[in-house]
Parts: sequence; structure tokens; C-alpha cells
Amino acid sequence: LSKMTEAELYSQYKGVYLPKLVHHPECLKHFEEFTFRTDDIIIATYPKSGTTWMQEIVPLILSEGDMASVLTLPNWDRMPWLEEHRAMALNLEQRPSPRCFVSHLHYSMMPKSFFKVKPKVIVVMRNPKDVFTSSFHYHEMASFLVNPGSVDEFLAKFMSGQVMFGSWFEHVKGWLNAEDQDHVMYISYEEMILDLKESVSKMARFMGKSLSEEVSAKIADNCTLKNMKRNKMSNYSLVPEELMDRKKSEFLRKGIIGDWKNLFTDAQSEYFDAVYKERMKDVKLNFVWDL
Ligand code: A3P
Repeated sequence: LSKMTEAELYSQYKGVYLPKLVHHPECLKHFEEFTFRTDDIIIATYPKSGTTWMQEIVPLILSEGDMASVLTLPNWDRMPWLEEHRAMALNLEQRPSPRCFVSHLHYSMMPKSFFKVKPKVIVVMRNPKDVFTSSFHYHEMASFLVNPGSVDEFLAKFMSGQVMFGSWFEHVKGWLNAEDQDHVMYISYEEMILDLKESVSKMARFMGKSLSEEVSAKIADNCTLKNMKRNKMSNYSLVPEELMDRKKSEFLRKGIIGDWKNLFTDAQSEYFDAVYKERMKDVKLNFVWDL
């Protein structure tokens, strides 16, 4: 694929762009008709907020640290995106409980069954300056996404939601305002960076698993960026070079808090802060922006 425009690479779904490569109309229909179970675990993330990380952590919590699934199944089969075409081929209906999935779609786009069944959801949020930075590098290396252009150009698109999966602001606010929050847990990427073992224990408790200290520590150790980079089932090295150009950027890139400082000028950072302040004025969230 050469670099093409939004119109060529994306389709529109309920007002947001989705990359055509993995989202076909049939799989969105499959998504809309999907039947949840109460004990399903769904990870809801805006892209570049720690999805791949959760695809490593959640299966390890469910298996109580047994490595079989993370060493034999690619992250996208282990914990598929419900809205992607792959979900149709995996026969998810036959998977034993508790099943686990990820989704990048907004709360308001969840299927009917989601609101009826109320499966467990873990919402992972990341400070949006780092989300932007991660996404900018991802758009440079992925041929099925538009070329990001300059930071200013991509910033204008990101702030107005003219990017895949739409607006970060709308995505986060939608999930934060979810009804019936008993089945929803919120965690930030930064919390996970700062104390992964405690984050693993917290998520395990929410999932109804009581893990020993030792098992939580083992899972946290396996799920460091360094160790995940070594696992070919998790580091995206199975994706062909034409789709992801690793000479430009790795998928598992830096995994730190505050890399936006290496990308933004002062003016870009101030512009971001001003928009953030306005769009998030009625939201109580305290992100860690740098260390
Ligand atoms: P960076 O590009 O900032 O490094 P997603 O999986 O939602 O697309 O998010 C990808 C981002 O999560 C990338 O951020 C990636 O490096 C980071 N990430 C993945 N696994 C991680 C881990 N074990 N520890 C820290 N960050 C991780």
C-alpha cells in the first residue's frame, strides 16, 4: 500500500473513521449482533492507550500466570478486537467463559446486547499528549493509515477528531459517563507504568480472580515493555513489513510517560493545553503528563 488519503484508506462508521483494511461492513454487522455474556471482559481503549499491553496482562490474569496463551497465540487472536474482521473467523461464540476482548469503539457504539448483559469492562486511558505522540509515530510506520504529515497537520486532525476512531475527547468522555458503573473499572496507562504489580492485582480483583502476590509479581514482570518486545506473539513482528515498516518505528516503541516533550514545540503544547482545558472542563481526571 502506498500512502493514500482518508477517503481511500478509511470508511465512515457512525461518524468516525475506521481503517478499511480490518473493518469491513460485514464485521461491523457481526459486531452489532454480537451476544455478550455477563462474565465477558472487555478492554475499552482509544488507540495507543495500552491495548496491546492489556492483551498480555488480561490473559495472564485469567490463566493465573500460565504463559501458554501469550506464547502461542498472537495478541489479536488471544484477545480480539470485536469490531475487526478477524473476530468473525474466531468463532467467539464457542469460546469458554470468561472470554476477553478489546474494542476501540466509543461507549455509544456498543452493541445492544452490551447494554442488556452488562459484561465487565476495563477502560484504559492515557494522557492524550502521549496518545498523540504514539499515534503520530504509528501513522508514519503503518501503510494502512494516512500519512500524518507535519506535527501541526496531524495535531489539527487529532484535536478535531478527524482521525481513526474519532475524537479522543469524545471517546474518553463517553466511557467515563457510562451508566451502571458497577461493571466498569477505570485505570490509566500512567498508573500501570508507575506500579504495574499493584495495577495487575487491582484488575484481577475486579475480574474476580484472587492472585497471590507471587503470581501478580510474575505477571507484572512478564508484561514489562522489555519482555513483551521479546515475545513475537505480542510485538507485531508477525505483521508483514509492507503493512508496518519497522525501520520507521516499532509498534512497541518507547512505552514511557512524557514522550510528547520530544515532539511538541512549546506553542504546540500550549495549544494542546488550551483545547484540553476547554474540552475537559467538566471532567475530573488527573493525568500524569510527565515524570
Ligand atoms: P508508545 O508509542 O508511546 O511507545 P496500543 O497498544 O493501544 O496501540 O498502544 C501502544 C502504546 O502502548 C505504545 O506507546 C507502546 O509502546 C505502549 N506499550 C505497549 N506495551 C507496553 C508495556 N508493556 N509497557 C509500557 N508501554 C507499553
